[in-house]
Amino acid sequence: MRIIGTGSARPSKVVTNSMLENFLDTSDEWIVTRTGIHERRVISSENLEDLAATAARNAMENAGITAEQVDFIICSNVVNEYVTPGLGCIIQGMIGATCPTMDINCACTGFIYALDVAEAYLASKDLKNILIVCAEEPARMMNWHDRSSCILFGDAAGAVVVTKGDDLKAIRVSTHCKVEALYQKRKLQPTPFITKEEVDTEGVVMNGQDVFKLAVSSSIKDIDKVLTMAGMSADDIDLYVLHQANVRIIESIRHFVNQDKSKFPFNLDRYGNTSSASIPALLDDLSRDNKLKTGEMLLLSAFGAGFTTGACILRWSK
Ligand code: ACO
Repeated sequence: MRIIGTGSARPSKVVTNSMLENFLDTSDEWIVTRTGIHERRVISSENLEDLAATAARNAMENAGITAEQVDFIICSNVVNEYVTPGLGCIIQGMIGATCPTMDINCACTGFIYALDVAEAYLASKDLKNILIVCAEEPARMMNWHDRSSCILFGDAAGAVVVTKGDDLKAIRVSTHCKVEALYQKRKLQPTPFITKEEVDTEGVVMNGQDVFKLAVSSSIKDIDKVLTMAGMSADDIDLYVLHQANVRIIESIRHFVNQDKSKFPFNLDRYGNTSSASIPALLDDLSRDNKLKTGEMLLLSAFGAGFTTGACILRWSK
């Protein structure tokens, strides 16, 4: 596979840490020190599908293809206002594509899972261009009275177009069932037949410290594994494009691979954790700021609820 286009879109509403101080027992100093986040973008008047379609159109334009040339759409999404149909179906109509679509829900690791599916589809089917759209509104999943979780997240969409090529040097995805670390349950429609008790957690329940430890230990394992699969060392990687969750998680991973800070681009200070949109949106930022050079080796790594994890090594040749 080869990435030939990137795109992203973010809500217009900027929510700074000091704005959170107005209704939460928190402080800019605490949030910046513990997470590295200064502000995030949160949906106010936009619809997530509008952000997703904008990111998709930007990626197609950047790739130099039209909607008719998209052969398959993979949409990574955890929640949106539609329970059904899948967000990919909505995006297909909005951008004017006619190809099949598939939604996946692998939490923050969704982009790596989508790349893995795209690689397999490109290898086994007669497809040319696959559009991956990661569109997430985690801010809508939070309990905004819970200071330990709502401060972390922001909404965004990121997209890439991939085609056949040999830029993907190694990829690995895993799932380790650890539901208690991070989950949300909601009540479904009642029926005349339901007798069991159902729970609505009214937002995400997260054990931050467990997630932190799982994130670091699984990412380290994934990175080690994909480096071995590709026959490379940590020094051979030009940029580590990691899931943007917490600057301290990125720092812990950086210490493990023992590489310079300059190899770890980040934008979580401005956008917070945007779930599966974080890596494709960061790639788009880097690409549009001319910070990615042809031939550079990128290592992508993510983790999320599940616990899902994944990493890959990708040569940049756009
Ligand atoms: N402001 C002020 N104080 C706070 C806040 C806040 N926003 N949040 C928690 N605190 C308090 C706690 O109540 C606690 O107080 P106490 O000592 O009186 O009990 C104290 O700060 C320390 O809390 P800890 O939980 O120990 O803080 P920690 O350093 O672990 O940081 C954090 C918490 C930022 C959540 C960290 O654990 C983390 O980033 N974990 C990973 C979370 C994550 O990445 N989740 C997303 C996963 S990806 C996905 O799939 C969605």
